[in-house]
Amino acid sequence: MTAPLLRIRDLAVSFATYGGVLQALDGVSFDVDKGRVVALVGESGCGKSATALSILRLLASPPARLVRGEIRFEGRDLLHLSEREMRGVRGARIGMVFQDPMTALNPVYTVGFQLIEAIRLHRKFTRKEAREQAIAGLAKVGFPEPAARIDSYPHELSGGMRQRVLIAIALACSPTLLIADEPTTALDATIQAQILELLQKLRVDLGMSLLLIAHDLGVVASIADEVVVLYAGVVMERGPTASLLSAPAHPYTRALLRSIPPSGPTAFRTRETKGRSLPTIEGTLPDLRSPPPGCRFQARCPDVVDRCTTDAVPLTSRSGGGAVRCFLAEVAEAAEPAATTDVA
Ligand SMILES: Nc1ncnc2c1ncn2[C@@H]1O[C@H](COP(=O)(O)OP(=O)(O)O)[C@@H](O)[C@H]1O
Ligand SMILES: [Mg+2]
Repeated sequence: MTAPLLRIRDLAVSFATYGGVLQALDGVSFDVDKGRVVALVGESGCGKSATALSILRLLASPPARLVRGEIRFEGRDLLHLSEREMRGVRGARIGMVFQDPMTALNPVYTVGFQLIEAIRLHRKFTRKEAREQAIAGLAKVGFPEPAARIDSYPHELSGGMRQRVLIAIALACSPTLLIADEPTTALDATIQAQILELLQKLRVDLGMSLLLIAHDLGVVASIADEVVVLYAGVVMERGPTASLLSAPAHPYTRALLRSIPPSGPTAFRTRETKGRSLPTIEGTLPDLRSPPPGCRFQARCPDVVDRCTTDAVPLTSRSGGGAVRCFLAEVAEAAEPAATTDVA
């Protein structure tokens, strides 16, 4: 078996805040294999961006602190690279697309200028060559009439077009891994679908891997090979998309699935466009400055038992692939053979 492209083990990150130390991530482990799409999902505040920013070492320290863990990418432990070595990884091996396409682009410069800068940062091109590359890059992300519109300013473009430009910038140096942090959250439903389709197509055409972050499982289910469900800085469940959707083992995963529109996970619809309210998950995240002992989902869990409020819950492998962190799932699984505790 070849090593995964990205391997995260036992990642724990805290933030120093006025109210105390906040444990944003507490023992996160998952892999992204070559050429695969992994979706990292969970509601707002669960630690998705903290995970992405940890991979790129973009969390400012302080307030962030790496408590423990390992992030191996292409065989190297990113957490122990020098800042100089890290610059060679960031943007060159790993591309990143953030949520808000307006703030991520500089309003003062044309999109062409910003894309050309990104290209020239990594490769020795003349301005003319870089401009040709930029036009080709824009064409690749479905930007209409790239030669004529390359000199547009960000405010002259729609949100979807700006997101396409950001994707072109992220791809400027042919990354092997693209991290997209809620790339469609700020966009309306039709455009959302188009951007996801584009990411999927690029992944195939360019043979990259994709770590796709979203708070809505329904949005990413159709393009993800695997799903990692994060709750309050802890991986609650992970596994192949099909089995996670058809047989979710964690009560939190089930709650996330129930909040997807009834037309199913492949429909790119938001709650607003459906025009009817969907069940939302009752309650709020625990205070990460003093998380409860036991399971972090206990206060909101419909199936909670005494043990969940006292004992640490291990991540347990499932027989059909994947893993779950729930005592009740463990019991169900024990009825079948081959349940082993995940080493990580
Ligand atoms: N710079 C920061 N300082 C203090 N707390 C932070 C900082 N960044 C994130 N957090 C906290 O860490 C937790 C995880 O945040 P984040 O990774 O942004 O969640 P998500 O991306 O899933 O919405 C949240 O409780 C958030 O308030
Ligand atoms: Mg986020």
